[in-house]
Amino acid sequence: MRILGIETSCDETGVAIYDQNQGLLANQLYSQKELHSTYGGVVPELAARDHVKKVVPLIRSVLIQTNLNSVDIDGIAYTAGPGLKSALLVGAAIAKSLAYSWKKPVLGIHHMEAHLLSPMLEITDITSFFKFPIIALLVSGGHTQLVYVKCIGEYKILGESVDDAVGEVFDKIAILLGLKYPGGALLSNMARFGKPGKYVFPRPMIHQSGLNFSFSGLKTAVTRSILSNLNDYQTRADIAHAFELAVVDTLVIRCQQALEQTGVKSLIISGGVSANFVLRKKFSKMIQALKGKLFFPKIEFCTDNAAMVALIGLIRMKTSVINNNDLSILVKPRWSLESLSKLNTDV
Ligand code: KG4
Ligand code: ZN
Repeated sequence: MRILGIETSCDETGVAIYDQNQGLLANQLYSQKELHSTYGGVVPELAARDHVKKVVPLIRSVLIQTNLNSVDIDGIAYTAGPGLKSALLVGAAIAKSLAYSWKKPVLGIHHMEAHLLSPMLEITDITSFFKFPIIALLVSGGHTQLVYVKCIGEYKILGESVDDAVGEVFDKIAILLGLKYPGGALLSNMARFGKPGKYVFPRPMIHQSGLNFSFSGLKTAVTRSILSNLNDYQTRADIAHAFELAVVDTLVIRCQQALEQTGVKSLIISGGVSANFVLRKKFSKMIQALKGKLFFPKIEFCTDNAAMVALIGLIRMKTSVINNNDLSILVKPRWSLESLSKLNTDV
């Protein structure tokens, strides 16, 4: 089985082809970063209009790259949510239209399930990758969630951010530090030049019961420091360093608590922020001490991409019956992971 995946949930247009036997055949991405950086954040209407321009050329391009045409594609998967409504609608409309004209099954994919399972993109044998149950930490621009994964499709949210998502906080602080949107990776680069210990910020919520996160207090503390200090490069780097450490420490402590409370020893970390170098280092150390297992996506699959959408499309199409007659263009800008169905059969 070979699936064409389409991702348009936010500010990246992605198209990929995933083959059951050969793995990922093509993965192309167009980032709208430049378009939105002027505004310091994603402008939904501009994002949607840009997806309209880019998605068809990208589909054509992956087909040319792989020397395939429509008869070689067995199904189409697109991101149906969560995400920006106008942006999601572009992917949904093109996926449904192609499915109609190519006479192929089509399936809407949950963006966070795609992130969650993205470490599986590294292997071709997708049947025996994770041993369930497993805990997942999803850290992206829109979500910060701790998930108990009983098996693929059966998810329980153990905790989530009650305010800003981790990526969002990185991006907001980055702007205050004079960096361009989206500034997570740029802030992290700046933090490398920071002197340890010059600033210390709180690790929010870690002593409170439950497994939720809150980053607004930390954001306020860091903002005050930036505004009340002489903003030469070194000071900004020192603040960036302390901020990154406070965020990562908070995530590590909460995940450790989740692992202790559930008795699970394996952890998946995915979503854009999982590309963070300090996060990867600190989590590896924590899991080593617990003698557990840690899974990250490859760096290129941490941020939004269509490869993960095509992969989940394959898994779900292989294990469920698709209603080919449903051509309604429906998206779910808000969509709970817990509402997903577990697979009918093994992959
Ligand atoms: O998963 P993603 O591509 O989009 C959403 O689904 O939201 O995540 C994007 C987020 C942005 O906030 C970006 O700044 C952040 O991931 N990010 C990083 C790093 N690389 C991307 N944050 C911290 N360190 C990084 N290296
Ligand atoms: Zn994402």
